[in-house]
Amino acid sequence: MSQERITTLLTEKRSYLPPEHGKSSAWICGQEEYDALCRRALDDPSDFWGARASQLIHWFKRWDKVLDADEQRHKYRWFTGAKLNASFNCIDRHLISGRRNKAALIWQGEDEMDVRCYTYQMLYTEVCRMAHALSSLHIRKGDHVALYMPMIPELVIAMLACARIGAIHTAIFSGYAEGGVRSRIHDSKARVVITADAAVRAGKFKPLKANLDPILEKCPSVAHVVVVRRAGLDNVTMQPNRDIWWHDLIDDFTLNADFPCEPMDANDTLFLLHTSGSTGKPTGIMHSTGGYLTYAAHTTQWCFDMRDDDVYWCTADMGWITGHTYGVYGPLALGATTMMFEGVPTWPKPDRYWRIVENFRVNILYTAPTVIRSLMRLGEAWAERYDLRSLRILGSVGEPINPEAWSWYHKNIGGGELPIVDTWWQTETGGAMISPMPYATKLKPGSAAKPLPGIDAAVMGSGGRDGEEDGGSGHLVIRKPWPGMMLGVFNDEEKYQSYFSRFGCYESGDGAQVDADGYFWILGRIDDSINVSGHRLSTAEIEAVLAACPEVGEAAVVPMPHRLKGEAIYAYVVTRDEVPWSEDLRKKLRDTVRRDIGALASPEYIQFVEAMPKTTSGKIIRRMLRKIAGDTYEDLGDTTALADPQVLETIIIGHQNILQGQHETATAAGDEPASEGKEAAPGA
Ligand code: PRX
Repeated sequence: MSQERITTLLTEKRSYLPPEHGKSSAWICGQEEYDALCRRALDDPSDFWGARASQLIHWFKRWDKVLDADEQRHKYRWFTGAKLNASFNCIDRHLISGRRNKAALIWQGEDEMDVRCYTYQMLYTEVCRMAHALSSLHIRKGDHVALYMPMIPELVIAMLACARIGAIHTAIFSGYAEGGVRSRIHDSKARVVITADAAVRAGKFKPLKANLDPILEKCPSVAHVVVVRRAGLDNVTMQPNRDIWWHDLIDDFTLNADFPCEPMDANDTLFLLHTSGSTGKPTGIMHSTGGYLTYAAHTTQWCFDMRDDDVYWCTADMGWITGHTYGVYGPLALGATTMMFEGVPTWPKPDRYWRIVENFRVNILYTAPTVIRSLMRLGEAWAERYDLRSLRILGSVGEPINPEAWSWYHKNIGGGELPIVDTWWQTETGGAMISPMPYATKLKPGSAAKPLPGIDAAVMGSGGRDGEEDGGSGHLVIRKPWPGMMLGVFNDEEKYQSYFSRFGCYESGDGAQVDADGYFWILGRIDDSINVSGHRLSTAEIEAVLAACPEVGEAAVVPMPHRLKGEAIYAYVVTRDEVPWSEDLRKKLRDTVRRDIGALASPEYIQFVEAMPKTTSGKIIRRMLRKIAGDTYEDLGDTTALADPQVLETIIIGHQNILQGQHETATAAGDEPASEGKEAAPGA
């Protein structure tokens, strides 16, 4: 748990009242209304969630029961017996509600002149064509389709086409490399993969299709690959009978070819999305059609106070949960206008976001602390030259936001007035769980404020006691089910149960502290995950890649605080006998991680060590390695469990040498190892 965050919590005293202007027409227009909703939602959850589901979603058939709970097995099924279709809710119903010609999706390509706008009618046409196309590839309800795609409109079209058919999509972030892509396709047993010739990033091309080809040799489930021509690369190898261009595939279907929506059970899986768990294997989180969609629409409406004429921009890559919920399903279910940006905030210049806000008169901007910190470092002059007056609400997600970045965002982008909704949530939760309501909640910089109505969040001590006993900080848990909650973990019931095993209710894996006003301060992960620039990575996955290198005997990966990325990766490596420590080896190890998982997982520092600090039973004591990496080794805690205390001293000296640039100089690449990762869209 981050000491720095706890110190922040103790020293941060500022607070900001919600704006008066706009309050009267807000969805939640004050503290009293929020309090009343919280009471109502916790007193009678079925009534509360049933009412929200009726207001927000079109159901082909109404539910028999709002919640069917099997407390023993921690199975929660929402809206049982109900039928709906997510694609219908995100498109079709808006065609007859006066939004037919409203912009549903505005896409800004990396090249500023490259803009596409889809009205709801146009989106309908494209989604129907793609649904026909997938159907012609024998994709049916329940089949899996993997989407390894850059931030282009075809990604949204593919998601909604899958939902229309009842196929389950699994998006794979285009920044992932071989191992990350392979494990996700393998796990989902996708029958079709949709990709692009290349992703365009900061003026460079990343050849997605060429990356995919060797991976597919080991993925026998994949019968077809659909390729969007995005970059116009020459020499894209297309395997006959397997690979087909997107434009050729849809060409067979006319523009007015309606594709009827498959009526789905509320608890049919809408999509699968992998997240990094505490083991090396990515965890396939399954989300339901009815509960997830209700929760996506519900939280989009309340957290962002979404209005019908808003232009709403969630900057997250659609390959992450934030992109799913707040780039696609939430805003489109509400009939809103959602922005999609292919590029990166700093290319060609660090004014990209502000140009987009001005050009499209964006009203709601939802981004990640990493982006804010990197733009802050480059100075406010980049924002000052743009007219940002269209903005009404700012959002933050993916990692704890430090008060300094919060204040910069508030002052320079929000003119010192706009509310910032710092939303805490996870892939597993489907949508925001703890967040201010923009016109109701007093803001404290760095705190995600309070749980949403109906969300029973609490902080527990390690023994399952109330957090108070541990000085107020402890494990963040959710005690009651909510509709956005994951359906399960794909093919891994044991993993699903592990979320409930310690406290008997949902354990988030985050540490948090609640202050005297009931405000939650998220302290970061307390399991074996690392949050690099809002990308959640598993230490075990990175360790496994390092340990598979022939030179490596043992590897341990821990987080270290990082000025821009929030956390960075620090790897301790014991080499095998006779293998000398060298810069070449360090580079090789970094390249291996980069190639296998992706640039974002590349270690900031690699420290070679003689041995790991271990208990007498041979377990690595990671707590100590974390402290050393974080430069807080004055207080290493109880060292009596160490089999060989001498090991620690040597590691500390090695660490100091790395920092001082003596024997173990961090290479230039070491100082900026994840340059590609930094440019990557935030994970959030
Ligand atoms: O540690 C928390 C952090 O991101 C984790 C979830 O990562 P992921 O499943 O990839 O979903 C990211 C987008 C929701 C959490 O366990 N996190 C997310 N939002 C916040 C946050 N930490 C602090 N403050 C937040 N607002």
